[in-house]
Amino acid sequence: MEQAEIGLIGLGVMGANLALNIAEKGNRIAVFNRTVEVTRKFYAEAGDLQGQIIACETMQEFVAAIRPPRPIIIMIKAGDPVDQQMALLKPYLSQGDIMIDAGNANFRDTMRRFESLKDSGLTFIGMGVSGGEEGARHGPSIMVGGTEDSWKRVEKVLTSISAKFNGDPCVAWLGENGAGHFVKTIHNGIEYADMQMIAEIYGILRDGMGMSASEIGDVFGRWNTGRLNSYLIEISEKVLKATDPISGKPMVDVIVDAAGQKGTGKWSVIEAQNMGVAATAIEAAVSGRVLSSQRTERLAAETILGLPSGQGAPQDSTAFLSDLENALLAAKIAAYAQGFAVMAAASREFGWNLPMPTIAKIWRAGCIIRSQFLDEITSAFTKDPDTANLIVTPAFATMVKETDGALRRVVSHAALAGLPVPALASALTYFDGYRRGRGTANLIQAQRDFFGAHGFDRLDGVDKHHGPWGSGLATLS
Ligand SMILES: NC(=O)c1ccc[n+]([C@@H]2O[C@H](COP(=O)([O-])OP(=O)(O)OC[C@H]3O[C@@H](n4cnc5c(N)ncnc54)[C@H](OP(=O)(O)O)[C@@H]3O)[C@@H](O)[C@H]2O)c1
Repeated sequence: MEQAEIGLIGLGVMGANLALNIAEKGNRIAVFNRTVEVTRKFYAEAGDLQGQIIACETMQEFVAAIRPPRPIIIMIKAGDPVDQQMALLKPYLSQGDIMIDAGNANFRDTMRRFESLKDSGLTFIGMGVSGGEEGARHGPSIMVGGTEDSWKRVEKVLTSISAKFNGDPCVAWLGENGAGHFVKTIHNGIEYADMQMIAEIYGILRDGMGMSASEIGDVFGRWNTGRLNSYLIEISEKVLKATDPISGKPMVDVIVDAAGQKGTGKWSVIEAQNMGVAATAIEAAVSGRVLSSQRTERLAAETILGLPSGQGAPQDSTAFLSDLENALLAAKIAAYAQGFAVMAAASREFGWNLPMPTIAKIWRAGCIIRSQFLDEITSAFTKDPDTANLIVTPAFATMVKETDGALRRVVSHAALAGLPVPALASALTYFDGYRRGRGTANLIQAQRDFFGAHGFDRLDGVDKHHGPWGSGLATLS
């Protein structure tokens, strides 16, 4: 029997769809799942693609079915199951074989796994896959981390299954070891921020302007034809216009307002802190979900504290709608700038040399944050790949100057109306903090010196000093 080009373990939602995508693009694939019935069902339902699929029920049969050096995608529950699966697979593998973890792994686990195989003759790829079920089936955005040689072995198959933006494949090798999973983590952090900001704007339209779900859907529909054109705005319109078949009410109006946060969203905030990068919009989005999940406490607090008696709807709703559109664009710029800044810092720390224009490029299609806007980010980083921050590139500096006034008006309105907008507000203060040459940390430095004798730098460049507190004298350290 002709051997498979690639193997895949784990026929859950993502694995099954990815396997069908691989088969459909003309690649022969061997598949295996821990629970045999799942494999049988998958094969039985593969229809015309059965000819491209070798469904295996034992590990031995599975490994023998793949052409060496064998690339094997592991698409299972992240965490310990991946280590368990690797340990079960390893005895069957031979020189040059590649284990590819395509789940949402913590990149630090990926680095550990990569390192653990270093002298074994086997290699490891950590591969971020974005786009959910639909992306996996018809074209995801794929972020690859591993050795360049191992990438070359899988490049053809992965290119064939990836999403395409104007013909460009949305897959790339981004660097060694944990690079792919790190970039996927930050992608998800940005996704959290993007979703939170859209939800905050929805809150202003619903609670500040009294609009119905379908009216808000219309607004998003209009925005989707402009600069906010993106998958998330597109699906927001669709979900806002959907009707609950049980109650006949708008679907969103019967959904509990509590969102979970775990894994990649949380990790992106932790890593931003580890890298010493301010990622305030992503942090606000993760905290926003935390607060959302405390629904019982929120309901109790509303009865105790009441809602703020804020100002009513804005006078000129047409002008305000235009402000909301521009505010969302401005806030998105801050979130993406922060995400890219975290990646730049990690790239320096881990020596990955992450290609920023390529990352923006492979996010333009296939993934959840795909948008027109990412094409503009691609151009900005292509012109200036080493920029300190996206917001100081010429194109984005212009966009910030055009839209930050709207963001300021929207955040002010929300504050006065008592509507929570943590991510929008954090984006605004990020701009204001980042562009202010003279900040206020001089006072913090003085306080630190007062209570801890930490010393401070002087603006006039004279050596490190202590203040005239305590001893009453300025003393050189
Ligand atoms: N769903 C998404 O939108 C999405 C998007 C991007 C990335 N991901 C990531 O993709 C990975 C898979 O997600 P999914 O949604 O496809 O999960 P899923 O539908 O819940 O499937 C889980 C798969 O993992 C297998 N599994 C669980 N524990 C195992 C173990 N100890 N040893 C071997 N196999 C084990 C299951 O096998 P059995 O059939 O034997 O239980 C099943 O094939 C996760 O890392 C997830 O975070 C998901």
